Amino acid sequence: MTQSPETRFRTSQLEENDGPSVNPTDNRTMGEIIAARFSRRGFLKGSLAVSAIAATVSPLALVAADEARATEGSAFKFDELEAGIDDKHHVAPGYDADVLLRWGDPLFADSPEFDPVKQSAEAQARQFGYNNDYVGYIPIDGSAEHGLLVVNHEYTNPHLMFPGIVKIVDKDGKKAAEVAPLSKEQVDVEMAAHGGTIVEIRKEGGKWQVVRDGKLNRRIMSTTEMALSGPVAGHDRVKTNADPSGTKVIGTLNNCAGGVTPWGTYVMAEENIHGYFSGELPEGHKEAANYKRLGIPEGAYEWGAHYDRFDLAKEPNEPNRFGWIVEVDVNDPNSVPRKRTAMGRFKHEGAESIVARDGRVVFYLGDDERFDYVYKFVTAGKFNPNDLAANMNLLDDGTLHVAKFAEDGSVEWMPIVFGQGPLTAENGFASQADVLIETRRAADLLGATKMDRPEDIQPNAGNGKVYVMLTNNSKRKADQVDAANPRAENAFGHIIEIVEDGGDFAANKGKWEVLLKCGDPSVADVGATFSTATTANGWFGMPDNCAVDSAGRLWVATDGQGPKATGRTDGLWAVDTEGAARATSKLFFRVPIGAEMCGPLFAPDDQTAFVAVQHPGDGGEDWEAFGRPSYYEDLSTRWPDFKPDMPVRPSVVAITKQGGGKIAV
Ligand code: FEO
Ligand code: CA
Ligand code: CA
Repeated sequence: MTQSPETRFRTSQLEENDGPSVNPTDNRTMGEIIAARFSRRGFLKGSLAVSAIAATVSPLALVAADEARATEGSAFKFDELEAGIDDKHHVAPGYDADVLLRWGDPLFADSPEFDPVKQSAEAQARQFGYNNDYVGYIPIDGSAEHGLLVVNHEYTNPHLMFPGIVKIVDKDGKKAAEVAPLSKEQVDVEMAAHGGTIVEIRKEGGKWQVVRDGKLNRRIMSTTEMALSGPVAGHDRVKTNADPSGTKVIGTLNNCAGGVTPWGTYVMAEENIHGYFSGELPEGHKEAANYKRLGIPEGAYEWGAHYDRFDLAKEPNEPNRFGWIVEVDVNDPNSVPRKRTAMGRFKHEGAESIVARDGRVVFYLGDDERFDYVYKFVTAGKFNPNDLAANMNLLDDGTLHVAKFAEDGSVEWMPIVFGQGPLTAENGFASQADVLIETRRAADLLGATKMDRPEDIQPNAGNGKVYVMLTNNSKRKADQVDAANPRAENAFGHIIEIVEDGGDFAANKGKWEVLLKCGDPSVADVGATFSTATTANGWFGMPDNCAVDSAGRLWVATDGQGPKATGRTDGLWAVDTEGAARATSKLFFRVPIGAEMCGPLFAPDDQTAFVAVQHPGDGGEDWEAFGRPSYYEDLSTRWPDFKPDMPVRPSVVAITKQGGGKIAV
């Protein structure tokens, strides 16, 4: 490897890459529009509501009355947790937060027990993977207490996994390095720790248990054989020395969020794929511009030193085989996962879906990069609820759309179809396969709106709305502010709410507004728009994942808070979206220092919230107890209190109400 140690550093910086922005277009920055479009609530609070009655009522009384209305109107009944920072997870009073699965936990009868100093790819392949992100639940026989948990394993942190991989942080805590190159054996452990886990779980006596050796238990890894299907399958641009057919891919990478389809399959989103590739393309190679638009190669991993397919000089087409949505049939542990190319290729965050009125299925897809886009895919065929097997290839045929958010509060979903508009030979596209391989460039040409890192997008069947998490974008300049991205240097992110025309999720137009601008509302310059009933514990920054429970209530998980950013760890917040309580937020659960909050997912009976605690301890050097080179080395001096059971291994946690019952009711 020729990379400097600096380039090999990787943590959740893969979430917000500090490198140059890779979107070169001028799309929709609307530099002349500086005035932000306030959320309806913020606008009313800021002007009309106050001016109409300010003559007779003091501003303080107005705030108190507003707060009382919001508190009474809240859909959430629980005592709020205190925000803070330490090395443990915490849940609101009256709830239990039990670790269900941790990195390294055995999944099969023959799995070895976790031993951090004796790791091997063979052991990891039989154990729960690293850095759990998406969590889904697929009921067995319709049960809310017995089902398959499906969990993505997004990436690996060698400095937290392996003894002797030392992380160096400069005095600003910014630049860091992992010194000591990984061995091939360690790379193999990393490849086995990626991917996903399918595991049977059962609730007994009010507590969830893993069914070790459940007959459908399965690990999906970066070494699992998969098929490319849909328009790109077999195309010249996805053929390699190892796969001259262009249809067989080894593995999946950086599976961030995902989804469970209405027909009960598990979909995994391939997000930051650029980090795995190293080496240089041959001079003048035709994929150069394509790869540049995705930041490929970043060379954050050492896989290319051991496997030719991650070295661009040796396998220049390999990156085109990643960046897709992968669908897994969980009912057959030997099924071949399929990369559904019709859904586009970019840094896929998630793939939450809903059945539209006419039976077509709509998937909302975020492309998590600063200044990238919001997409939705609408299947051509209709969902058949009476024959689930009939739906198994629905994802190979449909229309991908990209969003253009207008300043008048409308949104247009523009089809990404070869031959339409600019997507022609004139712009270098010879087929729909070309358009899909270069989805970002196609969307650039269509004039899509450049967003502040689109992460999870969640349709809400209960009220017909769609929530879009926009994590942050510190690089947006004042002259790049637009209606849908209303803050320059947007450090704390925001949430957009979309209502599709006619309440039809498959519609090609809709209306939108900002539900919430995040950050500390007590700091005027931040411009946050939480309701006045939101307490000092209740506000948050950096919305990333989200869930809607079966009562239609919104829960938001965050990624990127901490001692410096917000003075609190990441966590799960309950956010009111309706009535007087709209934009009121309450803290329900928080993670140990350094972790991000993933999942979240509610069991079908709303009696359990599953949450994923990802990379606990990462980036925690600015918190004294985590100032250490590795979890598994030097612990006696750097972290005397360390115990193997401490919640510092990435974990899935099951939250239940003490004594039973629905969450927050
Ligand atoms: Fe993997 Fe966009 O978070
Ligand atoms: Ca995410
Ligand atoms: Ca994230």
